[in-house]
Amino acid sequence: MFNLNSYLVAKNKLINETLDRILLNSSDFSRLVVAMKHSLMAGGKRIRPVLCLAAAETVGGRETDALQAACAIEMIHTYSLIHDDLPAIDNDDLRRGKPTCHIAFDEATAILAGDALLTLAFEILSAVKFTCETHALKWLNIIHSISIAAGYQGMIEGQMRDIDSEGSLLTLDELEEMHSLKTGALIEASVLSGAILGGGTNDQIKQLEVYAKNIGLAFQVTDDILNVEGDPDIMGKAVGTDKNRKKSTYPSIMGLKKSKKFATNLINNALQSLESFDKNSNQLRAIADYIIERKL
Ligand code: IPE
Ligand code: IPE
Ligand code: MG
Ligand code: MG
Repeated sequence: MFNLNSYLVAKNKLINETLDRILLNSSDFSRLVVAMKHSLMAGGKRIRPVLCLAAAETVGGRETDALQAACAIEMIHTYSLIHDDLPAIDNDDLRRGKPTCHIAFDEATAILAGDALLTLAFEILSAVKFTCETHALKWLNIIHSISIAAGYQGMIEGQMRDIDSEGSLLTLDELEEMHSLKTGALIEASVLSGAILGGGTNDQIKQLEVYAKNIGLAFQVTDDILNVEGDPDIMGKAVGTDKNRKKSTYPSIMGLKKSKKFATNLINNALQSLESFDKNSNQLRAIADYIIERKL
């Protein structure tokens, strides 16, 4: 039987070693680099890079096909967390069990560490040694998709709506759209980048798109649920903050019970989309279940 725990341990090790190597190569140990490392190497779940590698394997590719993309996506995610925690946005003190970047350093350093991680991601994405024109075109394609997912048509627009909606009640459609942008877009880009780099066919990529949309939304619904009933010691970040800031969330709009049912339905849709894949997709199936069962 597929063992998700050992799979996650092995992939996290690979991702962490690769991220470490990329940052070690930075020419000096300036305050900026120390701040970047503080947040990047603080021990996140690495769910986006793992999804990227798992998607590559699902379509018959190797983890090495997608490793650079996986690491770049984790850098973009970490930058988004550093900025999300800033006083001007969520004003949080704890992240990944450590003081947030602006607490450990200062606001200016946190803003710059985030900027630098975002830029480094695109440096890594564009530094791949191409083997042929088709290979180069695949990378160009995923750089384009990741840019769209991370920017004003994706994650940043989601963050903007999250801030704008504080104190007001969103409709379920508005909430779904906000969550899909804020969190779903980068998760979708993680899966699709892996599938493209792993050599997936158009049909496989279309099916994985359905998988990714469903788990992406389920991931943020679960984040909302954990913000109500999670254990801050396990999660390494504060809980109850959404309510304090009068955020519209799934639990605030439909209650905890219905939110959990909604997340389960999304995961069932994701699992259905994998039906035509062979056992290489076991990791994506197990990750889908983990997304709603997680306590962290
Ligand atoms: C937290 O993301 C922010 C959301 C988009 C919900 P993760 O739950 O993936 O955080 P880390 O990377 O494990 O710290
Ligand atoms: C963070 O969302 C999403 C991004 C950084 C894009 P939240 O603000 O809901 O997540 P947490 O609860 O701080 O991790
Ligand atoms: Mg936020
Ligand atoms: Mg936040």
